[in-house]
Amino acid sequence: MRGKARAYTNIALIKYWGKKDDDLILPMNSSLSLTLDAFYTETEVIFDEGLKQDCFYLNEVLQSEKETLKLGAFINHFRKQANCSTHAVVKSQNYVPTAAGLASSASGFAALAGALNQALGLNLDKKELSKIARLGSGSATRSIYGGFVEWKAGNCHDTSYAHPMDDASWDVGMIVVIVNQKQKNISSREGMKRTVATSPFYRGWLDTVEEDLKQAKVAIQRKDFEQLGKITESNALKMHATMLGANPPFCYFEADSIKVMQVVEELRCEGVPCYFTMDAGPNVKILCRNSQAPIIMNRLKQMFKPEQIILSGVGPDLEYH
Ligand code: DP6
Repeated sequence: MRGKARAYTNIALIKYWGKKDDDLILPMNSSLSLTLDAFYTETEVIFDEGLKQDCFYLNEVLQSEKETLKLGAFINHFRKQANCSTHAVVKSQNYVPTAAGLASSASGFAALAGALNQALGLNLDKKELSKIARLGSGSATRSIYGGFVEWKAGNCHDTSYAHPMDDASWDVGMIVVIVNQKQKNISSREGMKRTVATSPFYRGWLDTVEEDLKQAKVAIQRKDFEQLGKITESNALKMHATMLGANPPFCYFEADSIKVMQVVEELRCEGVPCYFTMDAGPNVKILCRNSQAPIIMNRLKQMFKPEQIILSGVGPDLEYH
């Protein structure tokens, strides 16, 4: 009745933005990500007949009743399959700055799904885990796998899951620039809901995102880094543009986020291929060649503290511990 797993976070190159079903977390569009080895969550689950309720510790801090109930609802997907009503203690350690737009919910729910699978002896395969992780947080569906991962939108629970596309073992890396560690004001969940409901630009997103994905996949197949970078950057900017059209409008960029974007553009002009992307927070992620990361990091160090600049390699699949 004990399980422990580690899952790595992922950063979308072609973004998931908007749901067609809020309860099942079915996305409006398919997406594509890169799993990172520098940020992960380790979760241990112990089911214990003696417990009167579930208990949830995140980074050694006992979580509120509200958080624990949310977690309990997720655990129920597994309890149902195992025909079990026992409560559990969940201890989760996040090696990701929580809620700083670094998708801690992605590695969090993926690790929890793995730990629950092991604790209850369910032996679910990765495809099944990817579907259930999705019910916790959409982006978690991709954190079951390493390398480049595609999440096909699908149209019901059984058709919406991720699959690995490429192991990304071709001189690809990502530099994360932590502009601000503070908790974000508008969660991605709330932000995408508002955008779908009110932004006239959301139509433009939906009309073009599948084509962006197609081009990104071709670029990966050809190992065409520049092409992949260009489409990554334009897809991110397009997603952020939908938010400016929302009512009320909102924006995740901070002054330092834009500074990083400008550095990326300058470096490109100097012949260093690198491309930025951003999620529901001010931090900027730079898709780069691992071999050229030192040049990029040295430039960033002129503006940011060394601890704000983190280089990550490509992360692996979910691991059992
Ligand atoms: C901008 O997966 O955090 O990072 O499904 O509501 O939990 P919920 O949202 P979440 O959204 C991620 C949005 C994004 C883009 C992406 O990761 O694809």
